[in-house]
Amino acid sequence: MRILVTKKLPGKWHEKINLEGYEVIVKETDESTKEFILKNREGVVGLLCLLTDKIDKEIIDSLPNLKIISNYAVGFDNIDVEYATKKGICVTNTPGVLTETSADLAWALILAARRLIVSADKFTREGKFKGWEPELFLGYDVYGKVLGIIGFGRIGQAVARRASGFNMKVIYYSRSRDYEAEKKLNAEYRDLDELLKESDIVSIHTPLNDQTYHMITYEKLKLMKPTATIVNTARGKVIKEEDLVKALKEGIIFSAGLDVFEFEPEIHPELLKMDNVVLLPHIGSASFETRTKMAEMAVTNLVNFLSGKKPLSIVNPEVLERRV
Ligand code: NAP
Ligand code: GLV
Ligand code: GLV
Repeated sequence: MRILVTKKLPGKWHEKINLEGYEVIVKETDESTKEFILKNREGVVGLLCLLTDKIDKEIIDSLPNLKIISNYAVGFDNIDVEYATKKGICVTNTPGVLTETSADLAWALILAARRLIVSADKFTREGKFKGWEPELFLGYDVYGKVLGIIGFGRIGQAVARRASGFNMKVIYYSRSRDYEAEKKLNAEYRDLDELLKESDIVSIHTPLNDQTYHMITYEKLKLMKPTATIVNTARGKVIKEEDLVKALKEGIIFSAGLDVFEFEPEIHPELLKMDNVVLLPHIGSASFETRTKMAEMAVTNLVNFLSGKKPLSIVNPEVLERRV
């Protein structure tokens, strides 16, 4: 029986898959995940994969013995979960361990995009700093402003918690209301359009699903203030990227901070030219501590399931219920 790991993980956690009778193969070459899987498909029962690996019907069908797909991420939009469930394959993810690290990164983007940190750094490095000036790199304030959170789950709430130090008013839009969190974080619910109109800073924290795909279009961006900033650390496809480009070009909003892109790793060429956007290569959870914890969790999910125990986090628990 085989376990495939589509990339070496930090902390060498894949080496800790110490199940007797299983062969572990880690992809170490530049070949695509699909090539790697097809080449090694014989007897595969477990797959540990990345959010960049598209695990579709074709891949699932090529692995008739597959029992578990352990995703090295909290988001699982890369996996056809419905089809996996139909086939009785367990899908697991890594929630919780990356919440605070991802919230920190959202805040890094909020501050950077409000105060034009990256363009100002570039300007300084280029030797253009000739002395203090009254109107050099004017941005907009963060403290005391209205923070609008879209998707009030683990990360959305962790971002909201950090806002109290900045004396901000927090409003949120989410699929369901969380009255307890509202009270604890002093956050008020708004519908999406109201949130966009009222916020100075909008930060997106929903998963990508059929309902959140292109949730933010030009029409929605037009509701925002011309001094507002939008930050996306969720999934690129939640924003229609060409509409964001149009809105930024027309001055419909002030700035944007993006960790994720609609056609990742492709980035709209116009974004690359703009001084009022901050662009990051999908590094929300990228701290030494967190990436190690994610590896530990992804491996534990896989090993637990294959040895008859409950994974730490399961996306399709109905598969488990069927097994027991
Ligand atoms: P979570 O706890 O599940 O929170 C997601 C929130 O979004 C929940 O409150 C959920 O509502 C809400 N939601 C779901 N569908 C919605 C919809 N159609 N409209 C409005 N709200 C909706 O997940 P999390 O751990 O905070 O992670 C959120 C996402 O962040 C992940 O799915 C992933 O895509 C992304 N992420 C990115 C990075 C990065 O590196 N940039 C790192 C970590 C995570 P319910 O309460 O009703 O389910
Ligand atoms: C990162 O984007 C994740 O979903 O964990
Ligand atoms: C700025 O450096 C100031 O002293 O106001």
